[in-house]
Amino acid sequence: MAIFEVAGRRFVIEGKRVAHVVTIGANGKLIHTYFGAKLPYRDDYEALPSPIVAHSSFESPDGVATYDFVPFGEMLYTEPTLKSEREDGQRIHQFQFERSEQTETKLTLWLFDPLQEMRVGVQYEVFADYDIIGRSIVVENTGRLPVRLTAAQSFAMGRWHQPNLKLHHFAGMWTGEFKKQITPVTPGRQTIESRRGVTSHQANPWFALEQDATEDRGEVIYGHFAYSGNWAIHVEQDAFGFVQLSGGMNPFDFSWKLSHQQQLTTPTFYIGYANGFADMSAHAHAFQRNVIMPRATERPVLYNSWEATYFDVTESGQRELVDLAAGIGCELFVVDDGWFGERNSDQAGLGDWHVNREKFPNGLEPLISYVKQQGLQFGLWVEPEMVNPDSDLYRSHPDWIYHARDAVRTTSRNQYVLNLGLPEVEQFILEMMDDLLTRHAIDYIKWDMNRAFSEPGVPKDQTDRQQELWKRHVDALYRIFDELRRLHPTVDFEACAGGGGRIDLGILSRTEQVWTSDNTDPLDRLQIQHDFSYAYNAKMMSCWVTDGPNWLNGRNVPLATRFVSSMQGTLGIGGNLSEWSTDELAEAKGWIETYQAIRPTVQRGIQYRLSAFTQQTPSVMQYTSEEETVLLAIAPLRQYGAHQYHFKLKRLDPAMRYQVEDRTLSGAYLMQQGLTFSYTTDYEARCLRIQPVHRALSLLESKETIV
Ligand code: GLA
Repeated sequence: MAIFEVAGRRFVIEGKRVAHVVTIGANGKLIHTYFGAKLPYRDDYEALPSPIVAHSSFESPDGVATYDFVPFGEMLYTEPTLKSEREDGQRIHQFQFERSEQTETKLTLWLFDPLQEMRVGVQYEVFADYDIIGRSIVVENTGRLPVRLTAAQSFAMGRWHQPNLKLHHFAGMWTGEFKKQITPVTPGRQTIESRRGVTSHQANPWFALEQDATEDRGEVIYGHFAYSGNWAIHVEQDAFGFVQLSGGMNPFDFSWKLSHQQQLTTPTFYIGYANGFADMSAHAHAFQRNVIMPRATERPVLYNSWEATYFDVTESGQRELVDLAAGIGCELFVVDDGWFGERNSDQAGLGDWHVNREKFPNGLEPLISYVKQQGLQFGLWVEPEMVNPDSDLYRSHPDWIYHARDAVRTTSRNQYVLNLGLPEVEQFILEMMDDLLTRHAIDYIKWDMNRAFSEPGVPKDQTDRQQELWKRHVDALYRIFDELRRLHPTVDFEACAGGGGRIDLGILSRTEQVWTSDNTDPLDRLQIQHDFSYAYNAKMMSCWVTDGPNWLNGRNVPLATRFVSSMQGTLGIGGNLSEWSTDELAEAKGWIETYQAIRPTVQRGIQYRLSAFTQQTPSVMQYTSEEETVLLAIAPLRQYGAHQYHFKLKRLDPAMRYQVEDRTLSGAYLMQQGLTFSYTTDYEARCLRIQPVHRALSLLESKETIV
């Protein structure tokens, strides 16, 4: 790993296997030169061609190229990295390279624009072990006049188009998140984005770009944007074969004012390089666990009462559930929505964060003590960014929400979005949460966010600051989280937005886990979880076993199937345990014990997708750690008498012998011949643990021992 300069004003940033090369062009611009497998010699980097194509008067006189920073105002027409207007009307930039600055892991290329008197640092930070480079820009207004930024992306880079270049990204909706899409890259432009104020269910700030890659091989470039507000990722291919990539905060309805000497640093966009999708996921998962997420510890088995009681939470009802949850081995008990204010349905109470005395006559403390006596941690649901019109908070502060003069105030799930950009609102939320966590022995907060923005206005702001509200909201949210984590360092946080509406590396750097989806149907979840795993790790992924028939689609599948589906991530229980039979509770206890035994491997091991669930194909996930390999498998629908499915394991030690139930098989066997599972009923589930026995002497010396 190294960052160095080679002849030809060329900077090389190396990870373990990747190199990013950027050249300072004769025109002072940052020409993207290379992103791919690391090359052995400096000469190789010097020899890389400058990918510039001279053409006609309809293209830049410098030629056509791709860039690590795309300025606005010259003959470049791809999405600008930065765009701004100075108070005197100057909107053109003429950035020139000034100097570079570097440490062992960071490189900043400084550019200066004399027209608007702005300095920009294009920043690279390499995380060598993961082959990931963090990209962001820092912008400073060095002039006397204020400038208004209207675009400030975090990264730009390019590549040559190759046949079959494909973009992978997520599309979805509430209860149907993370459906991975694959679209060919063709001349023209593709943008994936959120304009909803929040990361969104509909798209997610992640992409992968590849050309005929498989799970096991093929170059993959991928990216994760660490931001929970409006974001955009652009893939633009021109007729010359250049593909310009860029991304960051969404320029749509964006603006940010910088006065003299003020700075803005954009959130980080992490760009990775891998060989095959399995490696991509393994690198990204490990990077999230070790670098992004705050704690390395394993996640407890959670019980959440939402689907059991909905808004009908009472101390006695919750106590009954505590007994049952403790009895089957749960480790954390979470009281969901309904404990506060006049919150008897979703029509009232949001904003009034005091304990409802009809439901909890002596406050939350007796329940919390009871939970702790049973040996469980205690967690609580909140949705601090929201308010119901029917609440004391809204009655006393009707101006605390996003709204516009004379405009309708749209309610969605009967609620409004609070304007966190107002310092008094930020302070209210921080104090309310600090007070809640100070007065109660709470171990875990589920922080929800159940609607997207509308009427994005702040009537008392000047017109040229209205569009700052999107970023102000996220800035305030992050400050609140950061401060709460500082004040209450042992409290864990779960990010939820009606399920998976706010999952990104920005919120993940402040939370221990996420609620993947409100869809708790175990079969739908297999598909959501499968695609989720391309981008995000299993430990963060909260999965609940809930009642059958499922609330969303009325489907009833065996309890074992519900468990094995939920054991693919951090196991939780969300059913109404008071309606489970003694046999079901006993079975649940057994599954929780199994999960606790495999938890280190599921939560910290390397995850391999062996087979994706459909009605005709099984779900098979492999998790491998030093100690063992775990297989979680669910059979397809049993059609036409089929009773077996077959799969091959991945990345075992070929010479190692493994105990597979009553057989001893080599890694080579398991990877080449594979295993066959039999099933007799629809969606039959299995959890199989495979442990290494001993290393065979060698494949050649003891062939007879290798079955
Ligand atoms: C959202 C969450 C659910 C639950 C409800 C409570 O929909 O995703 O898990 O907490 O809110 O109102």
